[in-house]
Amino acid sequence: MTAKSFEELYREWEEKTRQLLDQYPEEKDRFETLSGIEVERLYTPVTGSDDTAEKIGLPGEFPYTRGIRPTMYRSRHWTMRQYAGFGSAAETNKRFRYLLDQGQTGLSVAFDLPTQIGYDSDDSMASGEVGKVGVAIDSLEDMEILLQGIPLDRVSTSMTINAPASILLAMYIAVGEKQGVPADRLTGTIQNDILKEYIARGTYIFPPKPSMRLITDIFAYCAEKVPKWNTISISGYHIREAGSTAVQEVAFTLADGIAYVNAALEAGLEVDRFAPRLSFFFNAHNHFFEEVAKFRAARRLWAHLMKERFGAKSPRSMKLRFHTQTGGSTLTAQQPDNNVVRVTLQALSAVLGGTQSLHTNARDEALALPTEDSARVALRTQQILAYESGVTHTVDPLGGSYFVERLTDEIEKRAREYIERIDEMGGAVAAVEEGYMQREIHQTALETQKKIESGEEVVVGVNRFRLEKEQQPQLYQVDPTLTRRQLERLKALRQRRNGERVEQALASLKRGAEGDANLMPLILEAVRSYATVGEICHSLRDVFGEYQPI
Ligand code: 3HC
Repeated sequence: MTAKSFEELYREWEEKTRQLLDQYPEEKDRFETLSGIEVERLYTPVTGSDDTAEKIGLPGEFPYTRGIRPTMYRSRHWTMRQYAGFGSAAETNKRFRYLLDQGQTGLSVAFDLPTQIGYDSDDSMASGEVGKVGVAIDSLEDMEILLQGIPLDRVSTSMTINAPASILLAMYIAVGEKQGVPADRLTGTIQNDILKEYIARGTYIFPPKPSMRLITDIFAYCAEKVPKWNTISISGYHIREAGSTAVQEVAFTLADGIAYVNAALEAGLEVDRFAPRLSFFFNAHNHFFEEVAKFRAARRLWAHLMKERFGAKSPRSMKLRFHTQTGGSTLTAQQPDNNVVRVTLQALSAVLGGTQSLHTNARDEALALPTEDSARVALRTQQILAYESGVTHTVDPLGGSYFVERLTDEIEKRAREYIERIDEMGGAVAAVEEGYMQREIHQTALETQKKIESGEEVVVGVNRFRLEKEQQPQLYQVDPTLTRRQLERLKALRQRRNGERVEQALASLKRGAEGDANLMPLILEAVRSYATVGEICHSLRDVFGEYQPI
């Protein structure tokens, strides 16, 4: 009697299981991921594709499904890069140094809203927001204080800044000069992703065309002068936070990436000259396995796009390098300690998905900016994953899992379909102007909210397992004297600086903006003259105007 094939055994198992269902019914008829992809009871070679090994390839090899480097975390852990910034430059510098002392391995600057949308702290538009959701940076003087005592030739810094990205990059370069670190030794990233600001986050200033010009000016300038600098962090994080699914997060982010590559090519840049310094930024959300598959699908999709659509030749142009932040929108104000568990699972999904850099949210961030204690626990979460869990000891541990590979394929397929639809609309800029991505995200957000309100989607501590009485944790307190002190320093700076040099620099910048020269050198001179973020942005507003949302 010949032994039964696995397929025969599987079919028998299926039948036996079906007969058990009356006795042990399953919780629901259809299980699915947050993107609506059906989750089957069991994945086996019978239900999956048997060309998995060839399809997923090898780490460090095209299409990089299993990771962008052959040894991954065995050689170097991901960068532990906690997003931080509040109050004055001095206060944030203190938190930066605390986190570096506690073992974080990269910096990540959160700027306050006035800085992000190009207003000085003494502008009426800044009222009530100075130093609130990030650090107040008005001038090069603030940047010098922010980076005081931090060696820019040894620490890489990410800056979450978009519309005025060129100004903050110029300030960083100028601080490097003062530290004696030449621009070609600086390492870090500027977010510089205006499309997702129009789609989801909202800190835009100028209309799309001049915004894309400023972005490609940074690509060209850094390719020549700041070669180790990552010129953009094409972000899916905020798209997900606005309510998208994992599939939409991948699709809309890569569609934005395609738009930036096209803009750079139209500006005359050669793809392998700028593409290696493009980087990405994704969310690590709930549904653990979908998140792991999402990162792997995004890497494979981008590799094919860069090779086949843009003709990239350098492997560095095809490797999708990304930062991950755990999902802020999943944090609950109720029972904040539960958030440590959520963040741990989400961080694990990012690591098993091959992230290069990671921010773990603090347990109290649904309530306030993180206290020093909760920021430390967030960092320790990463350190426990890196040093105690063993997950760094082999590359892509979930690779080959029937479930994860099927999900990776399905997410890639659905994201590709979205990208084709956006291509037909004329690309991401056109899709944004038409409101397509915004509508898709809002629809998903509405459906998700309904599932939470009906209890179909459980949020522990919120719509199930609630406490009668919530404890009130110790929260971060904003310094009430902050704004006054910031305004006093800004006024003193304006009195002390060489006003004529500032005026000349701003006038030259305006003339440059009216022409088509790369604006980075002119912005750098304005920054060196201690012109402020607001003054520089007003000069550009005079020429470019402001974006008026649909
Ligand atoms: N083998 C060989 N070399 C290795 C290696 C390995 N296993 N691992 C790392 N390296 C090398 C790399 O090649 C790299 O050198 P290179 O730059 O010359 O290539 C160096 O070590 C550093 O490694 P990574 O580039 O992998 O790590 P980084 O941390 O420096 O960069 C990144 C990661 C994703 C490329 C970068 O863009 C980055 O740090 N991004 C961070 C973005 C960020 O923090 N954003 C926060 C936004 S907060 C926000 O917006 C949310 C708010 O709005 C709520």
